[in-house]
Amino acid sequence: MAKAKTDGQETVLRFLGGTADDYDLIVAESTGGLDAHWKRWILERMQDPQQVLDLASGTGILSFLVLDRFPEAHLTGVDLQEDYQAVAVERSKRRGLVDRTTWHRSAVEDVELPEAAYDHIITCYLPKYADRPVLAERLGRWCAPGGRLLLHDFAHPTDPKVEKVLHERYVRWLDKMERERPYWVQCFEGLYDFVRESPWTEDLPPLLEAQGFVDLEVTHVHKGCAAFITGRKPL
Ligand SMILES: C[S@@+](CC[C@H](N)C(=O)[O-])C[C@H]1O[C@@H](n2cnc3c(N)ncnc32)[C@H](O)[C@@H]1O
Repeated sequence: MAKAKTDGQETVLRFLGGTADDYDLIVAESTGGLDAHWKRWILERMQDPQQVLDLASGTGILSFLVLDRFPEAHLTGVDLQEDYQAVAVERSKRRGLVDRTTWHRSAVEDVELPEAAYDHIITCYLPKYADRPVLAERLGRWCAPGGRLLLHDFAHPTDPKVEKVLHERYVRWLDKMERERPYWVQCFEGLYDFVRESPWTEDLPPLLEAQGFVDLEVTHVHKGCAAFITGRKPL
């Protein structure tokens, strides 16, 4: 029997259902290029990765940046959405990277993965959607001794001036999508409030600490519009 979906899974399917074909373009343009910057932030903090787990790998934007930059690395991607993952799988075939990739079409909360197998666990845009107690427990099991965690997502700025500019940007994008790409409207209608209401930068660190992660840091970037949680498993 299929597992019931969590609220976060239902939300992401509502926001992103039917958007796989132009996701890469929209994420690049709607963040004004910051998406690439945030992914570089992760890449620059990876050290000699061998077994990388990319959670919510989507169409594989981050996954293929890792594979290009680290020729020794094998990458395992997990994503809920079939059409997003189909883009990643097709890309791995086209680029001759099938042997260096493993793809699981599953919710992160349900996927079966080997224990202590990954020296780097990375993600862009999962934490706000995930069932975080379940995610933390699973990260604790999957991360190898000495392994690193690099988690990224949108955050909500605390400065009211920045908040105003960000909100205006969402409204402009919503208006543009209503005219040009109506299948993106649900996303631009709901994402601002969903990010604002998500406590992921506060509730995830103690959950990770309880799973044995150390050196946990929350780093806010771009005036608080995005954040990273980094940490490691002791050897
Ligand atoms: C905004 S996209 C990001 C994709 C990719 N990480 C990137 O940076 O381009 C969010 C992705 O998270 C996936 N996702 C959200 N919640 C998930 C969950 N609980 N388990 C697996 N995938 C999830 C969605 O299917 C979607 O592909």
